[in-house]
Amino acid sequence: MRIKSLESYKEVYNKSVSNPEAFWEDIASGFTWKQKWDKVLDWNFTEPSVKWFQGGKLNITENCLDRHIETKGHHTALIWEPNDPKEKSRKYTYQELLEEVCRMANLLKAQGVKKGDRVCIYLPMVPELMISVLACARIGAVHSVVFAGFSAQSIADRVQDAQAKVVITSDGLNRGSRQQAVKRVVDEALETCPFVERVLVLNVLGWEVPMQEGRDISINETIQAMPSWIEAESMDAEDMLFILYTSGSTGKPKGVVHTCGGYMVYTAYTFLNVFQPEPHEIYWCTADVGWVTGHSYLVYGPLLNGATTLMFEGVPTWPDAGRFWQIIDKYGVNIFYTAPTAIRSLMSFGEDPVLNYSLHSLKVLGTVGEPINEEAWKWYFVHIGKEKCPIVDTWWQTETGGIMISNMAGVTPHKPAHATLPLPGIQPVLLNGEGKVIEENGVEGYLCIRFPWPSMIRTTYGDHERCRQTYFSNYAGYYFTGDGAKRDEQGNYRIIGRVDDVINVSGHRFGTAEIENAINTAPEVLESAVVGFPHDIKGQGIYAFVIVNNPEQDADMRVAEIQEAVVKHIGKIARPDKIILVKGLPKTRSGKIMRRILRKIAEGEFQQLGDTTSLLDPGVVEDILAKVR
Ligand code: WTA
Repeated sequence: MRIKSLESYKEVYNKSVSNPEAFWEDIASGFTWKQKWDKVLDWNFTEPSVKWFQGGKLNITENCLDRHIETKGHHTALIWEPNDPKEKSRKYTYQELLEEVCRMANLLKAQGVKKGDRVCIYLPMVPELMISVLACARIGAVHSVVFAGFSAQSIADRVQDAQAKVVITSDGLNRGSRQQAVKRVVDEALETCPFVERVLVLNVLGWEVPMQEGRDISINETIQAMPSWIEAESMDAEDMLFILYTSGSTGKPKGVVHTCGGYMVYTAYTFLNVFQPEPHEIYWCTADVGWVTGHSYLVYGPLLNGATTLMFEGVPTWPDAGRFWQIIDKYGVNIFYTAPTAIRSLMSFGEDPVLNYSLHSLKVLGTVGEPINEEAWKWYFVHIGKEKCPIVDTWWQTETGGIMISNMAGVTPHKPAHATLPLPGIQPVLLNGEGKVIEENGVEGYLCIRFPWPSMIRTTYGDHERCRQTYFSNYAGYYFTGDGAKRDEQGNYRIIGRVDDVINVSGHRFGTAEIENAINTAPEVLESAVVGFPHDIKGQGIYAFVIVNNPEQDADMRVAEIQEAVVKHIGKIARPDKIILVKGLPKTRSGKIMRRILRKIAEGEFQQLGDTTSLLDPGVVEDILAKVR
């Protein structure tokens, strides 16, 4: 279903609320099902239990690939642009991509991977990453993609939690002017995962890497012998499609579980309606497949719609800050979807890198992952979109599977820094502090969703209670997003940011407890508290207050060790921007850290610390202030 005007948006929206089942049934009918569903929806938000299209059987890869072969077999499905502009790009037609996916699926099968088995994918942004994801889906294995910037410890945690049988990885990766080891990180991770039976290794850099006898297999040496066809496994609509780990307010990332039928229907529907692609247009999402945006809008959403999706191996600033714009001109990209942090970072180089390129192919721009400030929005609109491209500001989460609140390109109006209106089928509400729904407009509250949608989180892997606790217990009867939002007089939503202990760094989520746990493993560290603070490029930065033994002694070394501990346990992306060694933390008499005070200090608002007299030891605040001022 494709909505083409503001009037029809309103009409369709109302229908989707008055009869959600008919609405979704109609959309679901547009796909290839091996067997039709018996029941559209069965749900309660108390357990919670949400089931869409029960009894239906399908394979998402048949919908991504096979069903396009007749009409679009020779159309380009995937364009891959390498890190180095001097290297050759690669293109795959739908026919070729199907064959590659089948080869990889056959390889996995030959290594004993069966329906329901978990496969961890730790690969850089090369075509084989997409191919591996789809190959898992082809045979009904559950993929768990781990972003290739995460540390060995992070991989180990995720592999253990999912009990993955197989890991797919590469020798190394290209990142701007540098090359980095990848397989070595996996080897270190798997020291604590003896149950992993196979490691499939892709040669990206041509490095010689140690291969463990009986466990490691070269993809390059085995893949060509694999047949280019394999029947797609028949999956129940509610069978697991993938697990994707994301941070929450507790110390351990949780495995968000998505299922086959609902995820397919929702990502396809939202891609079509938000981006409004036309046949033959080139679409580019800059997100890594290691994050949910890469899953839903680099791989599944575009392929389900038979679009051409572009994948870029490199970084926006190498060889220079014009790299994105050069790629847009090179391929004539029409739809460009990126993160506010990338926009802010490129904006800091001024207009010169942009002026070298025409960018005339652009028709639609998009942002995702964090609130976009008006200044960055305007720069994007004027200098990249040349004031003619609508910007879709898409609000959603790993847990929602797809875009929830967003304008639709050229259909519903954009408004700077606002995600605007919910998509048809989505029923957001704002709740006040007492958990009551705020009906009127011109308000602010906790953002919740009151009715299920097909691609919503089903459970957190291996721990359903955690799913209930995190998302369904704060406000009975609602899915709680963890975000605060405003709603203007016209009903447009503006997302303010997280209201829980999650820090959004460059669009990537980290729990404060997760970072504190990592810091606490460093030598001489007694206790730590981490808060977010406004950061010009990253949106939010990480500010750590750490109590160490003898802070006056070897302070530089302590700070370096703390950085190292975070890099080791999580990855470079979570490295604190500021570390202050302190004697004590502001605590209440019952021992609870007053984060409110630390946040104010991190924001530099020293005058607005509020009442500190209720602290166990008000003196610690003076000590901290003396260090940071
Ligand atoms: C934030 C990324 C403002 C929000 C798809 C959410 C946004 C978290 C927007 C999810 C947006 C995402 N405007 N904030 N357009 N999009 N967020 O799971 O705080 O990596 O809860 O999913 O990012 O991050 P996640």
